[in-house]
Amino acid sequence: MSTTQKAFYLTTPIYYVNDAPHIGHAYTTVAGDVLTRWHRQRGESVWFLTGTDEHGQKVMRTAHDNGVAPQEWVDRLVANAWKPNWAALNIANDDFIRTTEVRHTERVQKFLQGLKDDGFIYSGKYQGPYCVGCEEFKLPGDLIDADGEKLCPIHSKPVELVDEENWFFKLSAFVEPLLEHYRNNPEACQPESARNEVVSFLEGGVSDLSISRSTFDWGIPVPWDTKQVVYVWFDALLNYATAVGLTDDPDSPGGKKFAATWPADVHLVGKDILRFHAVIWPAMLMAAGLAVPKKVFAHGWLLVGGEKMSKSKLTGIAPSDITDHFGVDAFRYYFLRAIPFGSDGSFSWEDMHARYTSELANDFGNLASRLSAMVEKYCAGVLPAVARDADLESALSTATAKADSAICELDFQGGINAVMDFCKRVNGYVTEKEPWILAKDPKNQQQLEDVLYNTAESLRALAVLLNSVMPATCEILWQSLGAQDVLGDLNSQKIGNVATWGQLPVGAKITKTAVLFPRLELAE
Ligand code: MSP
Repeated sequence: MSTTQKAFYLTTPIYYVNDAPHIGHAYTTVAGDVLTRWHRQRGESVWFLTGTDEHGQKVMRTAHDNGVAPQEWVDRLVANAWKPNWAALNIANDDFIRTTEVRHTERVQKFLQGLKDDGFIYSGKYQGPYCVGCEEFKLPGDLIDADGEKLCPIHSKPVELVDEENWFFKLSAFVEPLLEHYRNNPEACQPESARNEVVSFLEGGVSDLSISRSTFDWGIPVPWDTKQVVYVWFDALLNYATAVGLTDDPDSPGGKKFAATWPADVHLVGKDILRFHAVIWPAMLMAAGLAVPKKVFAHGWLLVGGEKMSKSKLTGIAPSDITDHFGVDAFRYYFLRAIPFGSDGSFSWEDMHARYTSELANDFGNLASRLSAMVEKYCAGVLPAVARDADLESALSTATAKADSAICELDFQGGINAVMDFCKRVNGYVTEKEPWILAKDPKNQQQLEDVLYNTAESLRALAVLLNSVMPATCEILWQSLGAQDVLGDLNSQKIGNVATWGQLPVGAKITKTAVLFPRLELAE
């Protein structure tokens, strides 16, 4: 029996590189980053994968429209736009997979050959509408009619007619096993509304899936019929498994990685790509005799003007448009705090500005600067005594337990709220104790020191609890509390230990730092 601890394995979708990232893409990736950072701080071994989906007609046509070969186009976008964007947003992914990499293409071919050998692939004729924006074969009932023209409801663009000899995957054979899977494992597709949608889609019956294309060549060649390329979604879904060694010999490094990682614990996806992940992908795995993912979680859309924000509709907002004004950590915080994960939400500068000011600048940033200013003024910058406030201690325990269970359930809003409620509670404590009044009379020295210690200790906990959401800010706070020298790195602090009161020692040096969230004017 293997003794390797299976990693908590989380993936984001791999993004089409027809354009630069917008805040819809960043929403998913930040959520994944927060969740994996949280699990790391729970002491778990974690593997966090993101990457790019580089084949298919959408990417190929964009490259041609820009007068460059597809490979050159994707290389350029990945290097100049995608990777720097994730670095700028402080995304701590463990791996980045590109579907044009040999490690992916070879494993896709091997996997596909295996399905063919086992009788799950046959040749047939495909005729039907196709949306290049979605890279999806559509059913006539999926389309909207605009003066006789059939449009994709997501892209509001005309669909194209595909009429080709292709290879087909026996998807219909997996309807019953999939229904049984979701009946027995309701957590495997979340939220509940997403599972209901998948179940009723399956109950409506599913046809076999065309998994190759013969009219263009930007894709992975079908190994036994190299005039065809693998359908881009069939290719792309496999990234989650090829990145961790799918099809490698069990004794090889890839095979060992696979055993230590698969099945994925969470595939994070937007609701528009739920069916691919909750129907086609597990069916592919079932056909290959592999374990299916433990959870597919479909989040909602960021809306602009009531519609899914998208570059193709010219409503795309680049993450830097927001981070240039509010900073990276406020960006990471805002979307997860403001929108229940699973629901759609509208982005507005006004709402972001209001939350930035009241929750980040006033409640959190101000608490930190008040403490450092008071410790400097009244105690020469050094924590003078250890104290304990039973109410704060119990509020911290409650907040930690609530945050942990909410975040593990992907209820980011609930988790952040639990922590921010504690932050408010600490502000209330400082306001009520009035240390600035206590400081006026030396008789109150002990009380004053207690208040400062309890506030510092609360901020220690806040730095740990908010670290997954706002790592750069929490690091500044950690340094300002003098915690590094006595407790070690912030990232090594465990959630299971955060509510243990009294970790900052007497003598911890509290220093003033830059204001965590400077006051901002509402952007024009
Ligand atoms: N390449 C496929 C995914 C393949 S995964 C095996 C794809 N790429 S995408 O770039 O179009 O979209 C990737 C993700 O971004 C999807 O989960 C999608 O829901 C998400 N978003 C794109 N626009 C969005 C919003 N406006 N709001 C929230 N998420 C959005 O699909």
